[in-house]
Amino acid sequence: MRQRIVAGNWKMNTNISEGVYLAKNILQIYDSKDIKVILAPPFVSINEVSKTIEGSLISTAAQNCSTEESGAYTGEVSCSMIKATGAEFVIIGHSERRAYYHENDEILAKKVKLTLKHQLTPIFCCGEVLADREMNNHFTVVSEQIKNALFDLSKDDFEKIVIAYEPVWAIGTGVTASPDQAQEMHAHIRRFIKEKYGEDTGEKTSILYGGSCKPNNAKELFSQIDVDGGLIGGASLKAEDFNGIIKAF
Ligand code: PGA
Repeated sequence: MRQRIVAGNWKMNTNISEGVYLAKNILQIYDSKDIKVILAPPFVSINEVSKTIEGSLISTAAQNCSTEESGAYTGEVSCSMIKATGAEFVIIGHSERRAYYHENDEILAKKVKLTLKHQLTPIFCCGEVLADREMNNHFTVVSEQIKNALFDLSKDDFEKIVIAYEPVWAIGTGVTASPDQAQEMHAHIRRFIKEKYGEDTGEKTSILYGGSCKPNNAKELFSQIDVDGGLIGGASLKAEDFNGIIKAF
């Protein structure tokens, strides 16, 4: 069975003590074998949050990583540094990174490879902007994002990846993709993976939905056959909301 995952992307919110407090609250409410819960605090807090959740079934993630191994890259954070914080996952290609920091397919392909090299699991984000959907280009855009950044990988490596479909028009806007829209795109992504890597790899790949996922819409989204969980932004910053989303499974 595919791993079901609920990941909280805290973005540029919470300082160290706020992050530890939030992690403690999530930990108090939740710990279950059936659903993988992942917390992605800002870099500076990952280590403390990792210590807070140590011994539990919750994992931590970084929100980004450098394209380089080490050296004179002021302001960058490498995969080996991330690994040393206790994080197991790295979010790669979030639409905010693509839009504000000009991360293109080539950069993302490099990040994915480095992440895997350091035994970290990439959570690879893809998704179309509203104009793409309005022009009925959304399937092509998402396929291209996946093909360009990931289809160089071996089958073995591809099977380690988690995909997050995040329509850009739904991120932080309060507008969620309908369960049908999410299912349609997730099924498309899975088919696309199967065409490249085979039936078994496509069946094994966890595909998360992200974009204004809240406790009141998570259940319907997660009940879609190809939706294996969520990447949650705003609603991951309150323990009750995040827990409500986990419980939607
Ligand atoms: P949102 O963000 O849940 O606040 O829409 C999702 C994301 O950016 O991962």
